[in-house]
Amino acid sequence: MIRALSALARPWLSRLPPESAHRAAIAALKFMPRSPTTAPDYRLAFDALGLRFAHPLGLAAGFDKNAEVPDALLALGFSFVEVGTLTPLPQGGNAKPRLFRLPADAALVNRMGFNNDGFEAALARLTARATSGILSVNFGPNKDASDRIADYVLGVKTFAAAASWFTINISSPNTAGLRDLQRRDALGELVARVIEAREAVRPRRPVLIKIAPDLDLRGLDDIVEVATSRGADGLIVSNTTISRPSTLRDPRSRETGGLSGRPLFPASTQLLARAYLRAGGALALIGCGGIEDSATALAKIQAGATLLQLYTSFVYRGPEVIDDILDGLSAAVSTSGAQSIASLVGAQARDFAAATRTGAPRGWA
Ligand SMILES: Cc1cc2nc3c(=O)[nH]c(=O)nc-3n(C[C@H](O)[C@H](O)[C@H](O)COP(=O)(O)O)c2cc1C
Repeated sequence: MIRALSALARPWLSRLPPESAHRAAIAALKFMPRSPTTAPDYRLAFDALGLRFAHPLGLAAGFDKNAEVPDALLALGFSFVEVGTLTPLPQGGNAKPRLFRLPADAALVNRMGFNNDGFEAALARLTARATSGILSVNFGPNKDASDRIADYVLGVKTFAAAASWFTINISSPNTAGLRDLQRRDALGELVARVIEAREAVRPRRPVLIKIAPDLDLRGLDDIVEVATSRGADGLIVSNTTISRPSTLRDPRSRETGGLSGRPLFPASTQLLARAYLRAGGALALIGCGGIEDSATALAKIQAGATLLQLYTSFVYRGPEVIDDILDGLSAAVSTSGAQSIASLVGAQARDFAAATRTGAPRGWA
């Protein structure tokens, strides 16, 4: 029923300006009946971050920035939803237009700039939740914060009771200087203060760091080293890219902002594999960037992801993308002869780590 309605609505939504279509989708989700989803294949279940996931596929940050519809999104079939990025105070974000569709490239470019309702409004919504599905809260600093790290620390204190884990977003390209927090010294101080705050609140929640796909190997090494030595629990690899692969066809690719979707897949998957090989199991890795079907989802797992997130393919394909991916992952488990999807994690990390940024390793679907 929901899928049929969504299939009917999509041609209409795709004719609206992208931000209006997004607002319409959130409004529709508020009224969506919560029919129970069919139980996924038990072989797709995962234990990670001290939690039991019915399957690895979640929704990435940015779709439900203000925690308006997390339970409707869980009811569509995602095993977890990340809300945010939230900042302590509400802020309007960048001037519109700031979100662009690149249909020929199965991609989006956005320069939203952390438009959101602020911690207080989101916390009120999360506290009123009736269900307990897995939900992470992604936060970042206000644009004009005088102490950016203090904004992250406040996020930990604010959302301890409401979040299954915290995601520290230091990789959005649309807040000037934010990605400087990925540098070794700044990151060391940020993670130390966030972990100190996390240890002081109950319940104790995992802390994940969301990184950019544009890091070089040295930058990645620094992040893995700081994350493991300071007690972070995992990485989300990755956010959108500021690079523009030469394969892009849509003229809107020249818009300033972060590129997501299909063209992001090679770089984000290579970085994920490199993080897997460097972290040696010490960090949970969430693979994100260009997942659009079961082949790309499986590739992320083989590159080293324990969990997956997507955004852009949900915009283009709607909720069907969830069923398609889960069916394909079940088939992949059967074909491989493995007991579960968990045993495929990292199985091809070396191939994916060695791939050139635009090329593809052997077996790249
Ligand atoms: C319109 C839009 C808004 C986004 N907003 C956020 C955000 O607020 N915080 C964040 O961490 N990532 C944000 N992202 C990045 C996504 O969470 C994800 O990392 C990225 O889009 C790559 O995944 P995809 O290729 O499946 O879209 C946003 C992406 C898009 C397209």
